[in-house]
Order: sequence, then structure tokens, then C-alpha cells
Amino acid sequence: MSAHNAVGMPPGPRLPRVLQTAGFIFGAPRFIEACRRRYGDAVTFSTLFDSSFVMLFDPGLVKELFQGSGDQLHAGEANALLGPVLGERSVLLLDGAEHLRQRRLMLPSFHGRRLQAYAEVMRESADTEIDGWPVGQQFPLLPSMQSLTLRVIMRAIFGYRDGAEERELQRALRAMIDPLSRPRGMMLLALLGRSRDDGALARRFEQARRQVDQILFAEITRRREEPGLADREDVFSALLLAEDEGGTRLSDKEVRDELVTLLLAGHETTATGLAWTLDLLLHSPAVLARALDGDAEYLDAVIKESLRIRPVIPGVGRVVRGEPVRVGGYLIPPGVEINPSIRVIHRREELYADAGAFRPERFLAGGAPDTYTWIPFGGGTRRCLGASFAQMEMRIVLERVLSRCALRAARPELEKAQLRTITLVPRDGVLVVQERPPSAR
Ligand code: HEM
Repeated sequence: MSAHNAVGMPPGPRLPRVLQTAGFIFGAPRFIEACRRRYGDAVTFSTLFDSSFVMLFDPGLVKELFQGSGDQLHAGEANALLGPVLGERSVLLLDGAEHLRQRRLMLPSFHGRRLQAYAEVMRESADTEIDGWPVGQQFPLLPSMQSLTLRVIMRAIFGYRDGAEERELQRALRAMIDPLSRPRGMMLLALLGRSRDDGALARRFEQARRQVDQILFAEITRRREEPGLADREDVFSALLLAEDEGGTRLSDKEVRDELVTLLLAGHETTATGLAWTLDLLLHSPAVLARALDGDAEYLDAVIKESLRIRPVIPGVGRVVRGEPVRVGGYLIPPGVEINPSIRVIHRREELYADAGAFRPERFLAGGAPDTYTWIPFGGGTRRCLGASFAQMEMRIVLERVLSRCALRAARPELEKAQLRTITLVPRDGVLVVQERPPSAR
């Protein structure tokens, strides 16, 4: 008997693969929740895309997984679909020792004092965006939040200032990433993975990617020669100067891949988180009234609660390699992907009383989220590098919007969630009306 038969894979539905696939495509939350109730906290599924994968619904099991070895649990492999965009040296795609090296070189840019340096850029970007909002007519918040977070990345991460160069890079980046966030984005990625020049969509994408690369490689060369590089506060410059334990710096290709990774990981996600937070706030008068007091601690709780109830990324993955992995008494063989379900864990009544209610108070003093119960940023050695950056940006933007604007929801009901590539977005972009011109900055 093989090792994995000895303990076995977790139980799961015996439905034909095509029906399980339909369950995921047409009713993922309900289908997954029904299976969890029937089979327990670890469930094996089988779809047309993946013949065998395991989903986890319990914080204890997620802890075991997140604490496991990165040599054996490959998140990079689980993210492989993003390869054609990010490049193979991206921290999101590497595993084991190579991943850790890259991650260590990037970490200092996202901590403490360095983070504080970005606050002004965030505030300024929020104010500029707010100044462009129409008055008295309905508009969707999501696209506006996307330009806002893109501007923050252009300035804080890439270190550009207002001007022709910033506009040129921004245009090229948008041409590359916009098609990915459309409903067909997932298909485009799958297509790119198979063959680089398959069809007009993929060709256009390739063209856009080449243009981004050209601009970035030219800028890398220029900055490497810049005498004041060490005085700059952006992440791009810090990456050029970072050295590993052996004193080696990142290559041009590695810097390029990490910059595109930070853009892709940090732009759409934060914009979506902000749009959801405002949707929830504008439909919850009591919470909105308290948030309007401007208390920073309460705003933090609003953000945490909104990332709980509307997690931007519904789940993460780890592919088992080498030896089988033991999780919750099961032994999962190499080749199988394990997926903690962020969405399901965040809605469990045993963990969050009245889990469907938007109640920021649960995260105020004493009610701080547990590391494995509140997991919108994943966990372990793969936890989101930009988690503090994103939460700070969300807090600053919310503070500016709430203190300057009178917004109301354009519709009585909350938005429905739609899966776009790997993010859960508000389907109609959160429609709002600004009732009077924003107050002065
Ligand atoms: C609300 C906003 C955000 C959400 C919900 C989010 C969520 C996530 C999640 C779920 C992961 C995977 C973690 C895992 O596999 O355990 C991740 C990874 C990552 N995120 Fe974020 N993220 C956000 C914003 C950002 C920002 C602003 C940046 C950078 C500017 C960023 C950079 C990254 C990077 C580099 C990784 C890969 C880490 C690694 O593999 O070691 N993210 N994020």
C-alpha cells in the first residue's frame, strides 16, 4: 500500500468531473459550502481543470499548511498561470530557496519607516481622484479606485513624478494589464501559457508587454548610473540597491519581474478592496456614522471587516512536491494542490458570530483577528508582501473620501460579487452619487 493510501486523501463529492466543474463555474460559494457541510473541513474535489485538489475550511488545518516547508509546498507553482505576465523571476512564481532570497530582498521596502514615506503620495492621489468625481450624477467607484491605486504604484513603487515619462509608462502598463482584468482575462492567461502568438488578443498582449519591458529596461539602465539613487525613497530604487547575503544584487530581469509583480499584485487588489469597503459602508448607516467620526482605529476595523466579508482573493494554493504532506491526519501526495478557502473560513459561524453581518466592532480592541482565522492576505512565508501597504493605503483613501465627500449608494442593494481572473470584484463597479462638490483639500 502506498503512503497516501495508508492515511488517505480527504473525502469529497463523487459527482462526475464535469458536474463538479459546473458547480465551481455556476455556483462556487454554494457548491463549496454544501460539500464542506457534507464532507468536513478538508475536501477533495475533481474538475476538468484539475483532476484532484484539496480545499481546507478550518483555521487549524490552514495553520498546518502555512507553517509547512516552502520547499515542499509550492505557492509559486500554484500561481504559474501568471507566468507570461510576471516573468519567471517573479517572487510570486518562485519556490523554495530562490523564493526566499527574492522575498528577503523585497521585504525592507514594505516595512516601518519606509512605508510611512508613501503616506503623502497616497493622500495626494486620493485627493486628485476625488477632485475629478462628478456631482449629482451616478458613477462607478471601481474604475476610479483603479486609477487611484495605479497612480500610487507609479509614484511609491516605481518612483515616477507627474510628467510625460509617467504617462508613457502608465499607458503601456494599462495596455498590458487591462485585458487581464476583463471577464475573459482568465482565458487570455490560459492562452498565453500555451502559446505566445495564438490569436489577435494574445498578439496584442505580447506587443504591450514588449513595450513595457523596453521602457522598464531603459529606466533600469538609467537609474543604475544615477548618482543620487540611494537617496530615492521608491521601491524600484531600493530593489536596484538591495544585496543578498553573498553581496549579489538583483539582475535587470529580476528587477523588471518584481516591478511588474508589484503592479499586478498591488493595483487591482487594493482598488477592489476599497470599492467593496465603500459599498458596505454606504449600505450600513450606523457603521458609516461611526466611521465619519474619523477615528483611525475604527477605520482599521472597517477595513479588516470588509476584507473578511468581501475577501478580494477567495483562496490561495500550494502544490505538494517531494514527500507527501500530512494535513489534519490526511496524507496528501505530490502533485496535488491544496487550497485554503479564504471565502468559506471568513464566513464560518463558529468563528464569527452572525458571520454575514458587516460589523467592524468585532475587530476593535480585544477582538483582533487571529492569524489563521482572518486570512485575506494568505499566510506563512508567502503572506502578501504588501499587506501593510494595502491597509495603510485603504485607510488613507477612506479618510480622504469620508472627510471630503458626501456619497450615497445609487442602489438600495449591495453589489453582487463576480470572479475576474483571480479577484472577486463588485459586478457593476459600485455605483454611487456624490451629492455636493467635495470640500477643499
Ligand atoms: C487589499 C489588497 C491586497 C490583497 C487582498 C492581497 C492579497 C494577497 C494574497 C492572498 C496573496 C497570496 C498569499 C499566499 O499565497 O499565502 C498575496 C501575495 C502577494 N502580494 Fe498581495 N494583496 C493585496 C495588496 C498588495 C499590494 C499593495 C502589494 C504590493 C505593492 C502586494 C504584493 C504581493 C506580493 C509581492 C505577493 C507575493 C508574496 C510571496 O509569494 O512571497 N499585494 N497578496
